[in-house]
Amino acid sequence: MKDIKHLPVHVAIVPDGNGRWAERRGLPRLMGHRAGVRKMRAICEYLDDYGVKCVTLYGFSSENWGRPKEEIAGLFQILKERIEKDVPKLHERGVKVRHIGRLHQLPDWLQQSVTSAMELTKDNTGMVLNLAFNYGGKVEIVDAVRRIVADRVPPEKIDEKLFSSYLYTAGLPDVDLLIRTGDELRLSNFLIWQTAYSEYYFTDVLWPDFGKKDIDKALIVYSQRERRFGAL
Ligand code: IPE
Ligand code: MG
Repeated sequence: MKDIKHLPVHVAIVPDGNGRWAERRGLPRLMGHRAGVRKMRAICEYLDDYGVKCVTLYGFSSENWGRPKEEIAGLFQILKERIEKDVPKLHERGVKVRHIGRLHQLPDWLQQSVTSAMELTKDNTGMVLNLAFNYGGKVEIVDAVRRIVADRVPPEKIDEKLFSSYLYTAGLPDVDLLIRTGDELRLSNFLIWQTAYSEYYFTDVLWPDFGKKDIDKALIVYSQRERRFGAL
């Protein structure tokens, strides 16, 4: 660990490059997902060691339904296995697991393991870990608008603060640092409201190869940036 002056409070991660990692080794893509999902706990623990308060992981996007059925089913199975193995360990260090996205559209058995993880950790006061499974930023905004309308909120009461409180991330701070691995320079519909003023860190490291040194690098780059939020 490095001595870092300005730490981000909320780090969001787009873990990209699992498929390419596997293909480069002549392995099936699912082996890349297996290696990638296995990486997640160590990265979360390392960020927790640093004192980061909130981590949001993009596990499955609302656009990922366009992938082959076998890949989706395999990835869901891997996510379920990892949740069941890793959440009890995260629980020991006080991590609180939350879910963001449309949970009800996922298979029942995956919903169940996500719900049990949230139930197990609901009273924890440590780092918040948001699992973005079946998440899409535009869908999140649509869901927020639906709920605002359903609650009959008068138009003059709607401001940025109220709107934020209708997002899946209600009560959490906006994203300070967004990390994307796998050499793609895109946000891909991830936390589009919450990243309006985030710092972005892109790396060509493929997610299964992403390690502690890469986190150190991202945090150093972040701490050296000057954030002015549009002011002088
Ligand atoms: C990211 O790896 C994992 C998910 C999107 C679930 P990819 O599967 O996108 O890997 P590449 O981009 O094909 O290498
Ligand atoms: Mg990809």
